[in-house]
Amino acid sequence: MNYEKKGLGMAVFASHSALQLVLGGMEQGVRTALFGPEDRLELYRRFPALSCELVRYAGTETLDGLADEGFVLVPNGSVVEYVRPENLFRTKIKVFGSRALLGIEADQRRKMELLRKAGIPTPKEFSTPWLVDRPVIVKFPGARGGMDYEVTDDPQRISDLQIWALERRIVKGPSEVMIQEYLIGTTVYAHYFHSPIHNRTEITGFDIRYESDVDGLRRAPVSIAMRRSPTFTVVGNIPVFPRERLLETFLEYGERFVETVKREAGGKFAGPFCLECVVDSGLNVFAFEFSGRIVAGTNVYSVHGSPYLALYFGRPMTVGERVALELKTAAETGSLDEVLT
Ligand SMILES: Nc1ncnc2c1ncn2[C@@H]1O[C@H](COP(=O)(O)OP(=O)(O)O)[C@@H](O)[C@H]1O
Ligand SMILES: [Mg+2]
Repeated sequence: MNYEKKGLGMAVFASHSALQLVLGGMEQGVRTALFGPEDRLELYRRFPALSCELVRYAGTETLDGLADEGFVLVPNGSVVEYVRPENLFRTKIKVFGSRALLGIEADQRRKMELLRKAGIPTPKEFSTPWLVDRPVIVKFPGARGGMDYEVTDDPQRISDLQIWALERRIVKGPSEVMIQEYLIGTTVYAHYFHSPIHNRTEITGFDIRYESDVDGLRRAPVSIAMRRSPTFTVVGNIPVFPRERLLETFLEYGERFVETVKREAGGKFAGPFCLECVVDSGLNVFAFEFSGRIVAGTNVYSVHGSPYLALYFGRPMTVGERVALELKTAAETGSLDEVLT
């Protein structure tokens, strides 16, 4: 690590939650570099009060160069999509959080397995269309952002979708198409921050994703909505404050998740993560996915900070600032090794 001279910096892909992380760095006096293709960087030049370096991304050498300048990578969703987890093993830049977990996150099967190992309730999975006895959501692998997912309870339609995905080489075999129970309830995306410095898993907030066109279809006449299988393209995020008794369940799931990550994925974990959940009418909480890094849903607290973080620090704080604070404290106390992989 080469941060002693210029001070530790956060390298962030220019998208997703970049604004929040830059502002958080500015709050804590931790410098930030945003990297990405030229056309992505343009947006960030428009905001004069934003203080960060802008670096054109030209492959993992760019990340190596940033490491030489004392930067560590704070991964966001765009890193998983754009840099790809396998490339993160080809660069010397240190990752805040768990490099190994980002690889698991990109693999649907391993992802669900990790949740099950943590003892977190998950939707039922079907190995073949012909066993399906309830509505399911049919999911395809890869960073496709929910593209072409379909909700159905018709085994023939699921079988057709498997063939469709095979023909388009989206999958190599039908078993790569995930057939997952479609949970009826409300979606709640729970955000956490694991701090090795404080040895605790903090709740930092909750959001609901505003997804097109599943959310828009609610405003369409029933006769039209019934003829469409909804898509799930995330357009934005809305804050939600779950009933207070649910906090216990969410905290327990978060803590179990961290223990399991440490056990199954290289012994270390630090930083933000998210459990994507559905809460049913019996207030049972199921997780259908996770993100092992900051989620864009934390942007809902970008301006005034998360009121949940005030319960730990006495004042509201954004997750961007929380990241910068943990890194700064780790550097000051010689504990960087605990938060970086
Ligand atoms: N098992 C499920 N039950 C109900 N809704 C689901 C389920 N799985 C996914 N969804 C809905 O589909 C969206 C996209 O699915 P997800 O598995 O999160 O894919 P992505 O990789 O695009 O994030 C979710 O945000 C949620 O609205
Ligand atoms: Mg998701």
